[in-house]
Amino acid sequence: MTKLWGGRFTESASAQAEAFGASISFDQKLAAVDLQGSLAHAQMLYEQGILEETEWQQIEAGLNHLQATIDQHVYSLADEDIHMNLERLLTEQIGPVAGKLHTARSRNDQVATDLHLWMEQHVLELLSSLRNLQSVITEQADQHVETVMPGYTHLQRAQPISLAHHLLAYFWMFERDAERLTDNLKRVRMSPLGAGALAGTTFPIDRFKSAELLGFEHVYPNSLDAVSDRDFVIEYLGIASTVMMHLSRFCEEIIIWASQEFSFIELSDAFSTGSSMMPQKKNPDFAELIRGKTGRVYGNLMGFLTTMKALPLAYNKDMQEDKEGVFDTADTVLQSVQIFTGMLESATFKTEALKKATMQDFSNATELADYLVTKGIPFREAHEIVGKAVLHCVQTGCFLKDLTLETYQTFHPVITEDVYPLLDPVQAVARRGSYGGTGFNAVREQLTQAKQTLQKA
Ligand code: ARG
Repeated sequence: MTKLWGGRFTESASAQAEAFGASISFDQKLAAVDLQGSLAHAQMLYEQGILEETEWQQIEAGLNHLQATIDQHVYSLADEDIHMNLERLLTEQIGPVAGKLHTARSRNDQVATDLHLWMEQHVLELLSSLRNLQSVITEQADQHVETVMPGYTHLQRAQPISLAHHLLAYFWMFERDAERLTDNLKRVRMSPLGAGALAGTTFPIDRFKSAELLGFEHVYPNSLDAVSDRDFVIEYLGIASTVMMHLSRFCEEIIIWASQEFSFIELSDAFSTGSSMMPQKKNPDFAELIRGKTGRVYGNLMGFLTTMKALPLAYNKDMQEDKEGVFDTADTVLQSVQIFTGMLESATFKTEALKKATMQDFSNATELADYLVTKGIPFREAHEIVGKAVLHCVQTGCFLKDLTLETYQTFHPVITEDVYPLLDPVQAVARRGSYGGTGFNAVREQLTQAKQTLQKA
């Protein structure tokens, strides 16, 4: 088969080199957006008087036909990439007039346009999946405002908190991810089309027209930058890595909570797996897999940053390496968000076990210290007194609520009967009413704020 660019060549390509350089095995994902880009380009050429009306009509019909039959296309390695494969198919469809489509265009601005268009669709899809996840978080939070659990620092029990508060922490992480994606869309919605190979074109094209037809918001002001910019991809890979990092942290907690040692959560059977050998096992495989896949998403970011790092202007074939990493990241992140959403939605929190955990620890020690402060003792001194009381409990095998008033008074005489209600973990949570704190009322306000944020999105 002769190459579309074969005019200047006398020898045919080495088969191995041809296969090495071809991108059709993966860039066929761009077929639909490539056709869309071609359609806009052709219409602009016609409106600018560069194509005759009949030529435009033939090209338009051919492109529409290819779009309608997209599942039946047969691509060939010899045609290297999706752009030349589609041009070949268009030629088969409408004859030599197909060759006019590439007037005032290069594959360099074509592939960049395709990637911008493809990314826009993907980012919108990811945004909507993230919104769905956020809404499931608010639904779970709704049911657990008054469920108390141990809050941790250093994975050591620190202070009791509301489960809803813990869940909502993730709501805000995903909110920031959604904001970042929305911002990324500004750079995604920029048109490189009409930049040509690198320098623009002698034809009287209208780049703003083709950009408008494609729904782009801006047009790259510099043709060199237009064809060689992949910042919008790198930015996306960074955001996707952050989404995965957030999911992975949440997954790690779910894995810990699902262990028998914690027993804070029961995952539904639909989102768990068994062991081929040990019949008793119920494993949180999907949480583990999401945590694991975070690594490859980070890898795609590092890989592509490195690919771009020393590229001189403008287009270089190195940039063909953008696609596999982006496609892989897009599939991985989208599926991870969706699987995670199902897993969280169908999980059951063991409210009794969570509460019990708060009663069998020293996470109410700060309450006792704060109590002493209200009785006029400086906080540092109070800290020391409570430390001694905790040590006493550890040595005698009890908790703070079990100490008698007599014992308390040996630690400090200001301690009276009114200390006991404060040692109750539910009280400890309820009293933390500061804005953004875990107090039940504060959490209710936070939940309202979260829901309003979602409604506005
Ligand atoms: N398949 C190429 C890519 O993905 C398309 C652009 C090729 N341009 C070129 N001058 N070889 O980057």
